[in-house]
Amino acid sequence: MPASSDTALLIEHLDVRFGKHEDEVHAVRDVSLSVRRGESFGLVGESGSGKSTVLRAIAGLARDWTGRISVDGDDLGPKRTKAFYETVQMVFQDPYGSLHPRHTVDRTLSEPGRIHEVENIDERVNELLRDVGLGPEFRFRYPHQLSGGQRQRVAIARALMLEPKILLLDEPTSALDVSVQAEILNLLQRLKAEHKLTYVLVSHDLSVIAHMCDRMAVMNAGRVVEEMTVDQLRRAEPSHNYTRQLLKASLGYDRAAVDALETFD
Ligand SMILES: Nc1ncnc2c1ncn2[C@@H]1O[C@H](COP(=O)(O)OP(=O)(O)OP(=O)(O)O)[C@@H](O)[C@H]1O
Ligand SMILES: [Mg+2]
Repeated sequence: MPASSDTALLIEHLDVRFGKHEDEVHAVRDVSLSVRRGESFGLVGESGSGKSTVLRAIAGLARDWTGRISVDGDDLGPKRTKAFYETVQMVFQDPYGSLHPRHTVDRTLSEPGRIHEVENIDERVNELLRDVGLGPEFRFRYPHQLSGGQRQRVAIARALMLEPKILLLDEPTSALDVSVQAEILNLLQRLKAEHKLTYVLVSHDLSVIAHMCDRMAVMNAGRVVEEMTVDQLRRAEPSHNYTRQLLKASLGYDRAAVDALETFD
C-alpha cells in the first residue's frame, strides 16, 4: 500500500501480541490499512477480533507490536512523542472509566493543555465546552454530576484540546442510550467538518459505520478479512462470507445470524 501525501495514517503488516509463551495472545495479525486525510474509516468485527488493539497499538497503549505505523508520513517508534499526541488522540468506549472521578471538567480539559504548553487555556476550555454543546455551567462539575452523553462530550472535548488531526474513536457511543448515541454521532460529524479531522471509528454496529464512514475494514480473529467502501456496504455487496453474515445480523434481517457468526482463520 503506497503512502501518498494525502495518507493520514498508514499501517502495514501490524502484529500485536499480549503476554508471553503459553499465555501469549496474538491479537492482531498482519493488518494493513491506509486512511486518507479527512476520511472516516470504520473498523468492524465481532468481539475479540482485535479492533481496539489496532487503535491501542497506534495510540501507544499496546506496546508489543511489529510492523509499520506511520502518521502523516512519519513512522512511529516504540515511544509516543509529544508531537504524536498533538496529531492523534483517542476517545474510548466508556466515558465513565475514561474520566478521572475526582477531577472537574475544567481540570480534565486543562491538563493536556498544561502539559503541552497551550496558550490561553482558560479560553480554550470555554471554547471546547461550547464546541461539544456544553454550557459554561458544566466547567466545574465532576463526572458523577454528568449524564453518560455529557461525559462523552467532555471526553471528546479533551481529545480536541491539542487540536489533533486524527481521532481514534473506540466505540464512542456503544455505552450510551440509543437516543443519546445519535446525538453524539451527529456531534462527531459536525466536529469532523469544523476541525477537518480524520476519523478511525471502531464499531460493531454496521449502521453506525454506514452513517459515519466512507470506507471500512472488517476484522475477524485478528485479521482484516475485507475492506470495502460504505457504498458497497449499502448495496449489500460484501464479498467475504463473514461480512455478509455481519451485515445480515446488523440489519436485523435474521436474528439467528447473530449467533451463527463463524470464525474464519
Ligand atoms: N491487555 C490484554 N492482555 C491480554 N489479552 C488481551 C489484552 N487486550 C486484549 N486482549 C485480547 O486480544 C484480543 C483482541 O481484543 P480487542 O479488545 O482488540 O477486541 P475487540 O475487537 O476490540 O473486541 P470488543 O468488540 O469486545 O471490544 C482478544 O482475544 C482479547 O482477549
Ligand atoms: Mg474493543
